Amino acid sequence: MKALVALILLIQLPIHKAVPAAPPGPLGCDDPESEEAAEVAVSYINAHSHHGYKFALNRIENIRVIPQGLNSDIIFLELDLLETTCHILSPTPLENCTVRSFAEHAVEGDCDVKLLRVDRKFAVLASKCHSHADSSEDILQVCPDCPLLASLNNTEVLTTVTAALNAHNSKTADAYLSLLEIGRAKIQYHPAHIVYAEFAVAATNCSAEEAKDNVEACQLLPDDQSNFGFCTATMVTTQDKSQDLRADCQLYGHQPGVTYSQPGQDTSGLVPSVVQGFTNHNLRLSHNNPFASESSSSEFPTAVLSAKSVAKRAVAEVAQHDKVPRPVGFLPPPPPPCPGKVRHFKI
Ligand SMILES: *[C@@H]1O[C@H](CO)[C@@H](O)[C@H](O)[C@H]1NC(C)=O
Ligand SMILES: *[C@@H]1O[C@H](CO)[C@@H](O)[C@H](O)[C@H]1NC(C)=O
Ligand SMILES: *[C@@H]1O[C@H](CO)[C@@H](O)[C@H](O)[C@H]1NC(C)=O
Repeated sequence: MKALVALILLIQLPIHKAVPAAPPGPLGCDDPESEEAAEVAVSYINAHSHHGYKFALNRIENIRVIPQGLNSDIIFLELDLLETTCHILSPTPLENCTVRSFAEHAVEGDCDVKLLRVDRKFAVLASKCHSHADSSEDILQVCPDCPLLASLNNTEVLTTVTAALNAHNSKTADAYLSLLEIGRAKIQYHPAHIVYAEFAVAATNCSAEEAKDNVEACQLLPDDQSNFGFCTATMVTTQDKSQDLRADCQLYGHQPGVTYSQPGQDTSGLVPSVVQGFTNHNLRLSHNNPFASESSSSEFPTAVLSAKSVAKRAVAEVAQHDKVPRPVGFLPPPPPPCPGKVRHFKI
């Protein structure tokens, strides 16, 4: 019996060994290794983003692997991301963050990421991103009454945020909260006039009571005590012009190592000039990577150029492949390796 088992193992062993560790040829966008690289890239992007919300992977658009010698490659990734409901200061891990639905007026991020892979370990070398909100027409087509994103410096939005923060500060027994940034805001006109706003806050060194006496003396807590939080506000204006305000704020508690970098404030104070007139924080500005300077942009092969060379190579590979006698039977063509699957929805 033992001998039989040994014999079976002996027969099986070479067969298993013959199976290559990874399929030959270029990496497809949905290959596990591509997904692993994308996961590293997305967590890097979120870790280096300072404003707005965390982004989640929606689709791997393209991947190119350039071998660098033994066990080492340079990998270029093109990623489609979608905004989640977690603010960048939120301690919630990305996998627990909800991607905003299409009807919530989605914001898409586009990123080019360059990674180094050594022995199946990835390190991000450079990344470049930008983000934009979906067009209002797209949303109105499927949801004519849906509220749409409003400019972050919209007067009604500023009024709502200020009123909500005052309302919270006037009834809390805890720390006096100060506004860090407005994350996003939507305005609905029918059937009721409603302003929705979300904003990030931080605790100051004053209690709400102390702030009543001298609000100017209230400072954000130092980095080793910082306490960030997030508020939502809803302002409903009825036909007789009476207003109903709902405000809800939550502090995250101190998170060691998490800091907030104040963007250059304009004179009005509430909205930094870089987002004035915009509906979202652009990843291009909020995601800063010291290594992704303009000079490194040439390191990302342009889509047109690479598409051509990839196509040429593909034709050459197919031609090569066709000379190899095929096994009996007809093999359907393999699915196109890129772009990969859409995880949430396509804008
Ligand atoms: C994230 O989700 C998992 C699974 O639902 C849950 O067990 C875990 O507690 C969540 N973590 C946080 C920080 O919310
Ligand atoms: C808050 O900090 C400022 C600056 O350090 C200080 O002047 C002020 O007295 C502090 N306020 C309270 C209530 O501790
Ligand atoms: C918002 O900012 C844009 C760009 O600076 C400006 O044109 C617009 O007038 C501002 N809107 C309000 C309501 O201040």
